[in-house]
Amino acid sequence: MAIDQGTGTKTAALQAERERWVSASVFTQPLFADHAHGARITDVEGREYIDFVGGIGSLNCGHTPEAVVAAVQEQAARYMHQMYSVVQYEGYIETVKRMVACHPGDGPFKGLLLNSGAEAVENAIKIARYATGRDAIICFDQGFHGRTLMGMTLTSKPMPYKKGMGPYAPEIYRAPAPYLYRGISTEQALDGFRKVLKSQIDPSQVAAVILEPVQGEGGFLAMPTEFIHGIHAICQEHGILYISDEVQSGMGRTGTPSAIEHHGISPDLATWAKSMGGGMPISGVTGRADLLDAVHPGGLGGTFGGNPVACAAAIVALDQVLDPDFQAHARAFGDDLRARLDAIASRHECVGEVRGLGAMLAIELVKDRATKEPAAEEVGRIVTLARERGLILMGSGLYANAVRVLVPLVATEQDLDEGFAILEESLVDAFAGR
Ligand SMILES: Cc1ncc(COP(=O)(O)O)c(C=O)c1O
Repeated sequence: MAIDQGTGTKTAALQAERERWVSASVFTQPLFADHAHGARITDVEGREYIDFVGGIGSLNCGHTPEAVVAAVQEQAARYMHQMYSVVQYEGYIETVKRMVACHPGDGPFKGLLLNSGAEAVENAIKIARYATGRDAIICFDQGFHGRTLMGMTLTSKPMPYKKGMGPYAPEIYRAPAPYLYRGISTEQALDGFRKVLKSQIDPSQVAAVILEPVQGEGGFLAMPTEFIHGIHAICQEHGILYISDEVQSGMGRTGTPSAIEHHGISPDLATWAKSMGGGMPISGVTGRADLLDAVHPGGLGGTFGGNPVACAAAIVALDQVLDPDFQAHARAFGDDLRARLDAIASRHECVGEVRGLGAMLAIELVKDRATKEPAAEEVGRIVTLARERGLILMGSGLYANAVRVLVPLVATEQDLDEGFAILEESLVDAFAGR
């Protein structure tokens, strides 16, 4: 892997150590953080970067938000761990209360806390199976739900997430999801879903569907309202539970606590993680109280789920997500990001589509607007060029040809001006083969 900081630097030394000690299976870039704040990271060479990735959507409130840092420091000095099943603490309850307030609909709802997005997904599936007494789960093309055995089974992209790591979890069925830019319409996808229920599994055996309202790893595909409503209606007809995976799309990213509330649907269950912890690892499941109470005591939980320090951070982050002023800011911020991406698209033929919802946006890059041939190598080059120029970017998408923007929602005008200028320059140079 090329080191862009030259030989003899601290980066080069750390990269050599990384290669000696850290598993090659973990994808990394040759960049090491020293400190970070807001939407900026300073690396070990003292070089500043604008962060358009935000820990892949984990930093909606920015790096080191003062109130989160203070809450973490205060809690760490009191106690750092108990294991909620051994000794309870108020922070767990306060975190769940706020997370439940993010679940759209009238309730009553309840929740439980876990460590990661994948673990939240695992638990939502366990709850759905237990509560319905059914085994089958239906997931969707372009979906991503994590890297555990269940998470990767539900995920639709073999490379890099599942190739060579089977056998996969049983009783998982996959239906098409709309990808309008590439010709998969809502109607086709709904027909495909109905066909799964005819040709693969009887609806009476299906416990749940799991769908991201905006598919993240799949390329920031915002599911059309008619699709979400269509799937939800079929689920209701057959007693199938609807799980909304809000791990990447939730926590204010789209201007509301959940992305599904844009569509006026109250899911039976929802999964949360990433920005919920304000930078600390924490996740959870929310949903109908009767479902959350269905499993016998001890059937769910875990050693570190809802750790007190993570809860202290999450309480602050969730208060921000639930604040109407923050939500209004997130909506205006999303409009600003879209206008900037639309402007870039209007100047460059290689941008096939600008898409997403709220401030969860991406551009899909193509070699040719007519053929729509994916420009995956160019996206790789854009990411490298941008990093060399002080902007952190990341690709996404089934064809690895989208550039996603998950910049912290606290980024300043200057962060955005500088960041988008670097993005555009890098795009031009990548397509010119420079
Ligand atoms: C929609 C969705 N679900 C689940 C996950 C898995 O989360 P984690 O990486 O915290 O396990 C992700 C991670 O990107 C995600 O985007």
